[in-house]
Amino acid sequence: MTSYKELGLVNTRDMFAKAVKGGYAIPAYNFNNMEQLQAIIQACVATKSPVILQVSKGARDYANINLLRNMARGAGEYAAELGCAIPIVLHLDHGDSFETCKDCIDNGFSSVMIDGSHFSFEENIALTKKVVEYAHAHDVTVEGELGVLAGIEDEVSSAVSHYTKPEEVVEFVSRTGVDSLAISIGTSHGANKFEPSQCTRNADGVLIPPPLRFDILEEIEKQLPGFPIVLHGSSSVPMEYVNMILAYGGTLKDSVGIPEEQLRKAAKSAVCKINIDSDGRLAMTAMIRKVLADKPGEFDPRKYLGPARDELKKMYMHKNINVLGSANNA
Ligand code: G3H
Ligand code: 13P
Ligand code: ZN
Repeated sequence: MTSYKELGLVNTRDMFAKAVKGGYAIPAYNFNNMEQLQAIIQACVATKSPVILQVSKGARDYANINLLRNMARGAGEYAAELGCAIPIVLHLDHGDSFETCKDCIDNGFSSVMIDGSHFSFEENIALTKKVVEYAHAHDVTVEGELGVLAGIEDEVSSAVSHYTKPEEVVEFVSRTGVDSLAISIGTSHGANKFEPSQCTRNADGVLIPPPLRFDILEEIEKQLPGFPIVLHGSSSVPMEYVNMILAYGGTLKDSVGIPEEQLRKAAKSAVCKINIDSDGRLAMTAMIRKVLADKPGEFDPRKYLGPARDELKKMYMHKNINVLGSANNA
């Protein structure tokens, strides 16, 4: 058993209280490897931002939980060495079972998500409550989810029925004891968040997505005043990176994300955690493709992973300063 406190990490409680009060959102960036972690920490230190390091089940399988835990410990020491000991949370993203959550809590995670959103309301409550009881006994915070984010294969009409129902949130939060709630208001995972048929096109042919359902968010805020709300699927899918990937041999199609202004608006509300993974994947891939195309003889991974890391840092700094508003809140 390793407590996150031994690793110099914090849970989300104070972080979220400050974010809700301050009208900004904490960046929740996924990482799977050293370069992503370096970029996140460098960007958050440079902007003096608190940060949530997210580990998915896929990341655990890819990188190993012992390595990830020790990387998070190292991240704290690295931040201090860079000149700002920012608060760092190590969070399980989309925990799929009590056992996975328990394993992460026992291995130094300070926050877990239990994603019971695919179950019935009662099953979701029962599973989430079980995780909360174990987590709170270890002073670990828990994120639950109500409502299902549309998958890229969903029809618009069926996606509508998956939005979070504001009339369910009070009962869910009070019966489970969760510390934060992920909701569905129109975001979705990946780089193709909407079908082209759901979007309009601007003069340059760029897809413009339908707006997020701020009316549902406002209703949820009314039901749960001051309660921390989480937005998944919040990559903006920057055209700059999509175009670079296409220019250097990639085959992305119909990529569309959540416009930054809408995320900025959400961050000023009760949304205090914004999850971003795909944009990091796009930025790294774009730069790696460019470097390898410009220098076909290069075979030292540091020569292409280094520029990819620098590009990632630049992108995360922009998000902290201009989108989430988390800069200068460490
Ligand atoms: O929400 C999903 C995250 O983007 C993690 O994706 O399971 O491929 O690591 P992954
Ligand atoms: P994106 O795919 O939009 O980056 O969302 C990531 C996410 O929600 C991780 O939980
Ligand atoms: Zn997610």
